[in-house]
Amino acid sequence: MSLSIYNRSIGLIIIGLVIGAVLVASSWETEHGESGFVALEGNVQRGAVVFRMAGCYICHTDSENGGVALAGGRELETPFGTFVTPNITPDPRTGIGAWSLYDFWNAVVNGVTPDGRDYYPSFPYTSYTKMTLQDIADLKAYLDTVPPKENVVGDHALQFPFSVRPGLAVWKFLFFEPGELTPDPKRTDDWNRGRYLVNGPGHCGECHTGRNFLGGYTGKPLAGGAVGASDERVPPIRGDVEGAIQDWSVSDIQFALETGIKPDGDVFGGDMAAIVEEGTSHLPAADLTAIAIYLKSFQQDIAEHSE
Ligand code: HEC
Ligand code: HEC
Repeated sequence: MSLSIYNRSIGLIIIGLVIGAVLVASSWETEHGESGFVALEGNVQRGAVVFRMAGCYICHTDSENGGVALAGGRELETPFGTFVTPNITPDPRTGIGAWSLYDFWNAVVNGVTPDGRDYYPSFPYTSYTKMTLQDIADLKAYLDTVPPKENVVGDHALQFPFSVRPGLAVWKFLFFEPGELTPDPKRTDDWNRGRYLVNGPGHCGECHTGRNFLGGYTGKPLAGGAVGASDERVPPIRGDVEGAIQDWSVSDIQFALETGIKPDGDVFGGDMAAIVEEGTSHLPAADLTAIAIYLKSFQQDIAEHSE
């Protein structure tokens, strides 16, 4: 086969992927028209819990340089380059104060900007896509109460070809599965709640699942991975994988997520310290128990488990 035919078939595959991605995108649009959002009412108290679970504060606050809460500017080092997080305070000009609930939902759940472009998955919409509409409405109600801050942030500094935003259509076609989780009626409420928190707002898999060289998930979910430019090792957190939490009880896991202290008395380091401090330590005990029950369940029913 000559090289030019080879190039042409790659070209065709890429065109096919882009057309596929456009079709997928437009079917989401028709499924959730803008009108359904008008009747939804968010609850600020519930939204504060969703906010903690989802760790929005951690990425969108430049804590290291004394940045204002949620005003953006934190630099995230990744193997693809450096991302600079946007301002998500309700400032109408430099934040998201002018956004409708639909705009917000479309960003957090579909990874689509208000003007129809794609977000990078460094914004973990790949997990948030599993969140319920009500949780999104509650989260928006909470974010609307945060003090607005005018702050213009810098641009991402990414390596080619990741610097080309339209290329994200192909990435999403390959690696993004949009849509809410359907509860499993054969399971307990606790298990279903834990599964939702871990895979949806908690986005635990964003660090605890392996990734391929394009940043798509690879290997068993929650079986351990690596994050950041320094390739920090992240341990597995599913009970059926050797080591790690296999020896932890449900209350060990709950205690660790509440306090940051592991059963051996050591404290969490790395990115997990922030996840506990800004996130899980603020959650109701029942939610932490649900997470622990879900993670341990892999150990009990290896054959039945899919996620
Ligand atoms: C792991 C880090 C991380 C977490 C956690 C995170 N974000 Fe982001 N977010 C980003 C990055 C990076 C971008 C920019 C993506 C891009 O430019 O394509 C972004 C973009 C956004 C945008 C688009 C803003 C704009 O001006 O276009 C919104 C809205 C947003 N995030 C809200 C949230 C909310 C709400 C949460 C919690 C549910 C959250 N983010 C959690 C990293 C994060
Ligand atoms: C931003 C990346 C990141 C996210 C998101 C994250 N973790 Fe972690 N997690 C880590 C790192 C890094 C470690 C290792 C910490 C250490 O060695 O001290 C860790 C360790 C753990 C451990 C201890 C495992 C062991 O064997 O020591 C548990 C349990 C855990 N995480 C649970 C969770 C849960 C549950 C979530 C979701 C609510 C979550 N993590 C989200 C990065 C993350």
